[in-house]
Amino acid sequence: MTSHPREAATPGGRHPSEFSAKPLGRVLITGAGGMLGNAVYPYFVRRSQKVLATDRVVSEPWIEKLDIRDTAKLHSVFSGFQPDLVLNLAAETDLEYCEENPDIAAAVNGDATKEIASLADSFGCTLVYISTAGVFDGKKGLDALYTERDEPNPIMVYGRTKYDGENHVRGLCERHYVVRAGWMVGGGSRKDHKFVSRILQQLADGWKVVHAVNDRFGTPTYTHDFAMNLFALLDQKAYGTYHMVCEGTGSRYDVAKEIVRICGSGAEVKPVDSDFFREEFPAPRPRSEMLCNERLGELDLNLMRPWRDALRDYIEREYADLCAGAAGA
Ligand SMILES: NC(=O)c1ccc[n+]([C@@H]2O[C@H](COP(=O)([O-])OP(=O)(O)OC[C@H]3O[C@@H](n4cnc5c(N)ncnc54)[C@H](OP(=O)(O)O)[C@@H]3O)[C@@H](O)[C@H]2O)c1
Repeated sequence: MTSHPREAATPGGRHPSEFSAKPLGRVLITGAGGMLGNAVYPYFVRRSQKVLATDRVVSEPWIEKLDIRDTAKLHSVFSGFQPDLVLNLAAETDLEYCEENPDIAAAVNGDATKEIASLADSFGCTLVYISTAGVFDGKKGLDALYTERDEPNPIMVYGRTKYDGENHVRGLCERHYVVRAGWMVGGGSRKDHKFVSRILQQLADGWKVVHAVNDRFGTPTYTHDFAMNLFALLDQKAYGTYHMVCEGTGSRYDVAKEIVRICGSGAEVKPVDSDFFREEFPAPRPRSEMLCNERLGELDLNLMRPWRDALRDYIEREYADLCAGAAGA
């Protein structure tokens, strides 16, 4: 039987049926095999007429192959599938890989996005482009959060190429949403390749001490909350640029401490500065990537939970064995 990723329980106090008045029609998803796609796909597949989920690698039976750099294939997918809505999740998301391969990062995050934006506009589609807090330089100061009114000024290849992608979308596709996420939390043990899975893996491997930086600050973003809030936003047809992150902020050290607490592990979390990981993670990272969902708030559409609640939900759903094991250790 085809195994589809599960949809999470409804986060927050509002029910998605409030937002499903207008059918979404035919939905094309790129990069569907990634962390975010794993939450977005089950959410949208239940609420749309038809979903075509694609990625450059066919890692699941419900995914079809589409490398977004393949312009001819992109054209044939648009004319064959005739999407009403395009969710462009495909991206090079590894910061170190982007620094080492700026041409590939530019081709995927920028140039392919430009082609998709132009196609989406000519087919009369709505286009959603997922962007990142990494478009900001992080110099705003720790007493203020970045809003949609702040001017991006990326300091690394990933952020620059994602910002290029944003600008192509805003410039070329009339019906667009550029939605910036923070530190992504989600994907489970198979898809999660970011910070949370790294710490969980260390706990699973029995580490007694884990290190996490206390000089980088951000806003975790749970993929299932994001999928639901995105769906609600699309219902409004209020096009533009949005921040969509969980409530609250913290350092990587704060997140690691919370993971250890949720898992009931006795491991010690040691705060270190970024130099500690300089060799492993040499790409520049902004000091602050702390976002707030100002525009969602203005529309009374901010459904994102506090990140600690969402993180607990995620770990208990996806890593129940680890929580039980660590608690008993
Ligand atoms: N992860 C984060 O912390 C984070 C934070 C803020 C915003 N975002 C944005 O959120 C979106 C979703 O990212 P994610 O978190 O789900 O990351 P992800 O797990 O890396 O997913 C991205 C997906 O895109 C695929 N992809 C890469 N190049 C492609 C290409 N040329 N054609 C088609 N697919 C391609 C990747 O395949 P491979 O696995 O084979 O590379 C992967 O399946 C991205 O736009 C990203 O920039 C991510």
